[in-house]
Amino acid sequence: MKKPNISSLNPIEFTKVQPLRTETIDKAPATPIPPLESYRANAIAKALHPKRQFVVISKIDEISSDVKTFTLVPNEKKGTTALAYFSAGQYISVSLTIGQITLNRPYSLSSSPKAALGGEYKITVKRVKDGLATNYILDNFKVGDELEISAPLGHFCYEPLRDAATVIGLAGGSGITPFLSLAHAIADGDEDANLVLLYGSRTQKDVLFKNEFDEIAKSCDKVKVVYVLSDESAEGCESGFLTAELIKKYAPEGDYSVFMCGPQAMYVFADKEIAKLGIRQKFVRHELFGEYHNPEKEADYVAPEAPTCKITVNVRGEKQVVEASVEDTVLSSLEKHGIRVPAHCRSGECGWCHSRLVSGKVYVPKSVDGRRLADLDYGYVHPCCTFPLSDIEIVVYPEA
Ligand code: FES
Repeated sequence: MKKPNISSLNPIEFTKVQPLRTETIDKAPATPIPPLESYRANAIAKALHPKRQFVVISKIDEISSDVKTFTLVPNEKKGTTALAYFSAGQYISVSLTIGQITLNRPYSLSSSPKAALGGEYKITVKRVKDGLATNYILDNFKVGDELEISAPLGHFCYEPLRDAATVIGLAGGSGITPFLSLAHAIADGDEDANLVLLYGSRTQKDVLFKNEFDEIAKSCDKVKVVYVLSDESAEGCESGFLTAELIKKYAPEGDYSVFMCGPQAMYVFADKEIAKLGIRQKFVRHELFGEYHNPEKEADYVAPEAPTCKITVNVRGEKQVVEASVEDTVLSSLEKHGIRVPAHCRSGECGWCHSRLVSGKVYVPKSVDGRRLADLDYGYVHPCCTFPLSDIEIVVYPEA
């Protein structure tokens, strides 16, 4: 191996460093260092990444019989005077207390990033069968209600250094919301991309935000929306599913990115179709699809014999034992017993629920296992996507 050339380094020079340092410190003014908040960079960082935000519901729009859009504005009484800016595609996590249960649920921001600067966020919530939080929100939230939400989070955003100039968006169901935000951001000039949205629905009446999308597409030639109906034919709409042929039909020549957001089943189907197109992996992006359910459908999952187990949870040195179903994530089980674990994405991505598994066996589905190698080495898990296979003991770290 070639030896490094160190002849140009003069050790004598290093002996002058300490006197120079002492002299510089002596010359420094004796006035105290200004508080950290007074630095502009710190103030900007705090505005962009507040620990939490307090908002009020200012408006509720009924989009369809089972979908509502909630407009949120700053709750100045509680100290939030402005909302954090965000990138189209990000989500906020909403804190809820339902009976004894305190939990968080992530919802994509459907409004434009520009509207955040004007003090407004919008989230859209769709009813799902047995959806504890979603159905609670739809049935109980009213104008004037005060909420605590997180800063904008998530990485399902357009990134010009990584993504191609054209994004083919594959949307299904309420997975349309981040694309509405992206379409607005492109029309506002906040994102420099072309969006071709293939929006899959069963029938025309299941299509959300049609007027809003059509208006954006009319005023901005960088946004095109194609409605794809699986259960009926309609003029001006494609029929069928989000297939490779359909993507090819609307994709430009050369590179393009594919962003997808929708139910878990749509990802399974769309991933197979995309594989036929030979698109480079870096151009394929998936939004999180919410809480993971039903590990038994995974080939490597071996269900434990007993349907329930015990979870010993250690919070700040105090231990509590709770009964849990092996079909529930550890996070859900703890929440059902009123134990609050910091959590935002509920999909293994954000890392907020990071906890230490002390003993016992667990199953983590590969598709949502966002742990790093060090987490595996030191026994850390994300309770939001971890299923107990035996009695377990876990240490959770509540927010300060
Ligand atoms: S809540 Fe995000 S990783 Fe668990």
